Amino acid sequence: MSHREIKEILLREGSRVVPIRWEGRRLYLLDQRLLPGKEAWIAYDDPDRVVHAITSMVVRGAPAIGIAAAFGMVLAAFRLRKQSMETFKNDWHAVAKRMLGARPTAVNLKWAVHRLQAVITSGDDVSTISRCLEQEALAIWHEDVVANITMGRYGQALLPAGAGVLTHCNAGALATGGYGTALGVLRAAVSAGKGIKIFADETRPWLQGSRLTAWELLQDSISVTVIIDSAAGCLMHRGDIKAVIVGAYRIAANGDVANKIGTYSVAELAKANDIPFYVAAPVSTIDLDTPSGETIPVEERAPEEVTFFAGQTVAAPGAAALNPVFDVTPSSLVTAIITEKGVVRPPYIETLHALFH
Ligand code: MRU
Repeated sequence: MSHREIKEILLREGSRVVPIRWEGRRLYLLDQRLLPGKEAWIAYDDPDRVVHAITSMVVRGAPAIGIAAAFGMVLAAFRLRKQSMETFKNDWHAVAKRMLGARPTAVNLKWAVHRLQAVITSGDDVSTISRCLEQEALAIWHEDVVANITMGRYGQALLPAGAGVLTHCNAGALATGGYGTALGVLRAAVSAGKGIKIFADETRPWLQGSRLTAWELLQDSISVTVIIDSAAGCLMHRGDIKAVIVGAYRIAANGDVANKIGTYSVAELAKANDIPFYVAAPVSTIDLDTPSGETIPVEERAPEEVTFFAGQTVAAPGAAALNPVFDVTPSSLVTAIITEKGVVRPPYIETLHALFH
């Protein structure tokens, strides 16, 4: 499967935005920090620069991070291919370690790098291994796109016709290999003629909702209404929002969901207003090795992301700030989890395990 073929699949589904390109042993990432103002691509041939692209949010969203990391590890193999087998493997694994540390909450990152590590272990010739790694990275990307389209079909059936649906952060094409998870479900509902009205939380402090979700939907001529994060409760209470759908950064074995900060508040509001709260995520986001949300490491980023915006101070100089970038929504608040293998409901400890058999 080539980059061009993956793009063709997405175009057939009406999804034009793809955040990643793989051309001639070079990785290109759409710089998501600059959207919607500027569409700029950055070229990478150094795996450590890919690590930096992940930590600095050039590429973000759990599945997109996994795919970028996989190609980063292919770049590492190309760079090291003139080494002896032993040095090749040692140096490659050292890069893998740095890649795994790029964003601690993202389980897809771990999952993708481990898939490539299995390829390294099974090969004994450097150039064959490098080619196999490239094929594996393309397979990870292709599988992600197919999974998103499939979960879109399952998930859209849950949304009532004409309903207002709220999403938080960006779980769309930009956060994945294309099409999106939560936004994939919304795309599928729009294609099915459901006549839904999409609301996007702006999602402080990086504004993934107002910058990225709104931009990518508008690229595909899908209408969207941006609201400030704190307007969600009011809109639910007055009946404008009838369902919530979000993505996930990591889902624990008991169904607890780590996702962008603010997701938990939206889930509590949904519960209080008797509105279903859906999570859409590929099976690669489910981490059966993490028993519950309590053991998911939550990334904290620099306080300046809260106190400054676009280089301007937005907090009183001298004020301290705290910036946890994910929260954990307990499984008791999750109505259903939409995956490419079907829709699962409580008790998640059983239904999530069943997806792996
Ligand atoms: O910090 P980000 O922008 O990488 O966080 C992204 C999210 O939390 C998404 O909701 C999640 O990764 C799902 S993406 C399909």
